[in-house]
Amino acid sequence: MELFTREVFFVKRPVGMVQEDSFRMKTRKLPTLDAGDILIRVRYLSVDPYMRGRMNLGRSYAPPFDLGSVMVGGGVGTVEQSRNPNVKTGDWVVGQLPWSDYCVTQGSGVRVLDDSLPPTTALHVLGITGLTAYFGLLQVGQAKSGDVVVISGAAGAVGCQVGQIAKIIGCKVVGIAGSDAKTKWLKDTYGFDGTINYKAQDFSDQLDENLPTGIDVYFDNVGGNVSDAVVSYLNDFSRIAICGQISLYNATTVEMGPRTLLPLLLARRVTARGFIVSDFAPQFGEALKQLKQWYQAGQLRMQEDVVEGLQNTPHALIRLFRGENVGKQLVRLP
Ligand SMILES: NC(=O)c1ccc[n+]([C@@H]2O[C@H](COP(=O)([O-])OP(=O)(O)OC[C@H]3O[C@@H](n4cnc5c(N)ncnc54)[C@H](OP(=O)(O)O)[C@@H]3O)[C@@H](O)[C@H]2O)c1
Repeated sequence: MELFTREVFFVKRPVGMVQEDSFRMKTRKLPTLDAGDILIRVRYLSVDPYMRGRMNLGRSYAPPFDLGSVMVGGGVGTVEQSRNPNVKTGDWVVGQLPWSDYCVTQGSGVRVLDDSLPPTTALHVLGITGLTAYFGLLQVGQAKSGDVVVISGAAGAVGCQVGQIAKIIGCKVVGIAGSDAKTKWLKDTYGFDGTINYKAQDFSDQLDENLPTGIDVYFDNVGGNVSDAVVSYLNDFSRIAICGQISLYNATTVEMGPRTLLPLLLARRVTARGFIVSDFAPQFGEALKQLKQWYQAGQLRMQEDVVEGLQNTPHALIRLFRGENVGKQLVRLP
């Protein structure tokens, strides 16, 4: 039987805010399977802020997307047909999957999922999101019991994981997010000790109120004006885990600021370290065991924010930069 798939192509490098005109959907016929091939039906796609960086030309830790290529990212799917001895029909798999209904692959780069866990956990709590929070907080931020941990982008996927892990190890957790609804959600759902709305008129008063003893670990997902305001609260020997700078990903120019920042880091003996989660790949197995244990004990949870339909994947990506998502942004392909 002939099988067709829709695919979302990257067709235009955005200047400034990414728009839907950077993407175009086309339909093509799928090839028949050769020996070793598997046919995957894509079920959920993860959209992630780093994708915006890959739309630009220039040097970064991941190569730019090629114009005219099919978009690709983390995803989970079911195996519909298999001519590969390592994978059987009906298996759920995770890996780098194209933004498409179906794909045919030799199976390298996809991993069969443990069927005792909800498959989408591989895209957040038990995937890159959880690992980023885990290594960023514990190894880069060196967080320990009693520390005051401040998280920017706290109501996003990584941010809410960082907050939960920090609570598990006995930190005081203060989350910064872009609306009162999000800050309320962080307190009600995850028990954050303090929250700050960076878009509120009284942002600086909220910082004062929530940080009477300063900050020991600043887990930064957003950079920009939020971080400019936060750094003056850093304690002596505090740590900054620089995870992301989403406020700058769509910017066409970025102001220089280190002349004021570096003296502050010096005077307070602050350690600021950028990291990419793949730096810790050799330790992923060990970390996933711990994350799974916390997840199964109900100590780590994730709200999924689901957009329906492959055709809406560009929109789902844009939601991240508009602050429309709460928790992990996913796309479900019905
Ligand atoms: N270093 C690594 O290896 C690594 C791995 C994964 C992710 N990351 C980074 O971690 C950060 C969070 O990623 P995620 O996947 O969890 O995304 P996310 O936080 O779920 O979604 C993005 C959130 O960023 C906030 N935001 C967007 N524009 C902003 C702006 N101009 N100023 C302040 N906040 C803004 C929005 O929340 P508000 O409504 O609160 O503004 C939005 O909901 C990103 O910077 C990402 O690049 C790094």
